[in-house]
Amino acid sequence: MPLGPRMAPPPPLAGVVVVAAAAAVLLLLPNAAVSRTLLSLDDFGAVGDGVANDTQALVDAWSAACATGDRTFLHVPAVRTYLIWPVTLAGPCREEIKLFVSGTIVAPESPDDWPHGGRGEWLHFHGVTDLAVTGGGVIDGRGHRWWARACKTKHSATQNCTAQAAPKALHFENCQGISVKGITLQNSQQSHLTFTRCSHVKANYLRITSPEDSPDTTGVHVVSSRNVHIMDDLIATGHDCVSIVGNSTDVRLRAISCGPGHGISIGGLGENRSYHRVEKIKMDTLFISNTENGVRVKTIQGGCGTARKVKFGDILMKNVKNPIVIDQQHSSSNEFPCTSKNGSSVTVGEISYMDITGTSASERAVTFACSDAAPCSRLSLENVNITMAGGRNASAYCHQAFGRSIGVVVPDSCLAKEDFLRLPVATAAGHRSAGEDDR
Ligand SMILES: *[C@@H]1O[C@H](CO)[C@@H](O)[C@H](O)[C@H]1NC(C)=O
Ligand SMILES: *[C@@H]1O[C@H](CO)[C@@H](O)[C@H](O)[C@H]1NC(C)=O
Ligand SMILES: *[C@@H]1O[C@H](CO)[C@@H](O)[C@H](O)[C@H]1NC(C)=O
Ligand SMILES: *[C@@H]1O[C@H](CO)[C@@H](O)[C@H](O)[C@H]1NC(C)=O
Ligand SMILES: *[C@@H]1O[C@H](CO)[C@@H](O)[C@H](O)[C@H]1NC(C)=O
Ligand SMILES: *[C@@H]1O[C@H](CO)[C@@H](O)[C@H](O)[C@H]1NC(C)=O
Ligand SMILES: *[C@@H]1O[C@H](CO)[C@@H](O)[C@H](O)[C@H]1NC(C)=O
Repeated sequence: MPLGPRMAPPPPLAGVVVVAAAAAVLLLLPNAAVSRTLLSLDDFGAVGDGVANDTQALVDAWSAACATGDRTFLHVPAVRTYLIWPVTLAGPCREEIKLFVSGTIVAPESPDDWPHGGRGEWLHFHGVTDLAVTGGGVIDGRGHRWWARACKTKHSATQNCTAQAAPKALHFENCQGISVKGITLQNSQQSHLTFTRCSHVKANYLRITSPEDSPDTTGVHVVSSRNVHIMDDLIATGHDCVSIVGNSTDVRLRAISCGPGHGISIGGLGENRSYHRVEKIKMDTLFISNTENGVRVKTIQGGCGTARKVKFGDILMKNVKNPIVIDQQHSSSNEFPCTSKNGSSVTVGEISYMDITGTSASERAVTFACSDAAPCSRLSLENVNITMAGGRNASAYCHQAFGRSIGVVVPDSCLAKEDFLRLPVATAAGHRSAGEDDR
C-alpha cells in the first residue's frame, strides 16, 4: 500500500492524514519541516475486541507505514485490546516510524493456538532502522499456559512438559536506532524485550512485570548488541531483570528498580563452546531487592571469549541472596572446548564494584568463584558494605580471584594481590575506561 510521492498531494486514503508543521507541538519533533503521516490500526480493519484476529491489520498498517516517505505515526488506539498472532514486521522502511501503542496488544493464550514450527517469537521486528515504540499502552504475552508446561516449572514433572522454548515476546533483530519507551510489557511467554545484533538502542521508562515464579521471563535480554541504554525502568519478573550475552559492547544501565527475579546478569557466556565478548558495560543507580542474584558475571566452561571493562556502581541491595557474584565454574555438557587448545575459557577481568551497600539474604554476600584455567584479574572493590539482613556479618569467598580493594569493604575483601609479573599493571586510567559513554 505505497503512498504517493512527497511532492504530489497524497491521494485520499482511508486512515491517512498528512499533518502540517503544527503537529510538531504535539509530538515533540525538532524538525517541523518534515511532514508526517498518521495512521490508526483501526483503519486497516482491526477490531480491537481482544477476540478477533487483528494480525493482518497490523501487517497491512506496518506495510503502509513502512512505505511512506514521511515520518509515520502508527497508532494502536487506547482502551481497546488487539489480539495478534506471531508476526514479523520487517524493514528497512523509507522513513522513521513511531509505533504508538496506547491500547493493549495481547498474544493468543494457548500454546496450541500457535503455529507449529514457529520461530520462537511473538512480535518480531527484523532489519528495521529508526523505530520508536511508545504510547503508554501494554504488550501482554499472556504466558501463563506456556509457563505451566515449561519443564522448569515446579510440579511440571508430574505433568507433560515441553522443552520447546517459549516465544520471545518483543524481539528486535538486526535493528538500528530503536527506542522502546514508556510502555508496559507483561506476562511474556519467555523474555519480554530482546535485542539481537542491534545498535543504538534505548529501553527507557518501561514497566516490565511477570510473576516471580514464571520461568525464563527475563526483562531485557541484550544479545550481541552495542550502544544500548537501559534506563529508568521497573523490572519485576521470574528471571533476570537484564541479561547481556554474545558480543555486546557499550551497554549502559541506569536507574533500574529490579526485583523480584534473578537480578542483573552478564552471561552465561560461552554456552555450547561459543565465543562471547562482553565489554564496556556500565551500570549505576540500581535498586535491587528480593532477588536471587544482585550483579552477576557468569561464564560456562568450554566456551571462549571475555567479559571485561565492567563497572557496577551506586547500587542499593535489599534482601538479595547472592549480591555480588562471579561464577566461572559452571560446566556445560560440551564435549570439547571451543578451541582445540587446552581448556580455553571465557576470561573475566577489569570488573569494578563501587559504592554498593545493602543486605544479603544469605551469609555469603560476595562470591568470586573463578577458574583455574583463567583466573579473574583486575577486580576492584571500593566502598562496598553488605551485611546480612538481620545485621549479622556476611562473608566473602574467593577462588583464583585477583584484584584490589579501596576504602571500606565489608565483608572484608578476599581478593589476592595481582601477580604483576603475569598480568599488565592495573592503572587508574584502565579502570576509568569503561565509562566512555558517561553522561
Ligand atoms: C490470524 O491472522 C494471520 C494473518 O492473516 C494468520 O496468518 C493467522 O493464521 C491467523 N490465525 C488464526 C488462528 O486464524
Ligand atoms: C500428556 O500427554 C499425553 C499424550 O499427548 C496425553 O494423553 C495426556 O493426557 C497428557 N497428560 C496431561 C496431564 O496433560
Ligand atoms: C562473536 O564474534 C566472534 C568473532 O567475530 C564470532 O566468531 C562469534 O560467533 C560471535 N559470537 C556470537 C555469540 O555471536
Ligand atoms: C546449546 O545446545 C543445546 C543442545 O543442542 C541447545 O538446547 C541450547 O539451546 C543451546 N544454547 C545456545 C545458547 O545456543
Ligand atoms: C594445558 O593445560 C595444562 C594444565 O593447565 C598446562 O600445563 C599446559 O601448559 C597447557 N597447554 C597449553 C598448550 O596451553
Ligand atoms: C555497614 O552498614 C551497616 C548497616 O547499614 C552499618 O551499621 C555499618 O556501620 C556500615 N559499616 C561501615 C564500615 O560503614
Ligand atoms: C563483624 O565484623 C566486624 C567488623 O569486621 C567485627 O568487628 C565483628 O567482630 C564481627 N562480628 C562477628 C559476630 O563476627
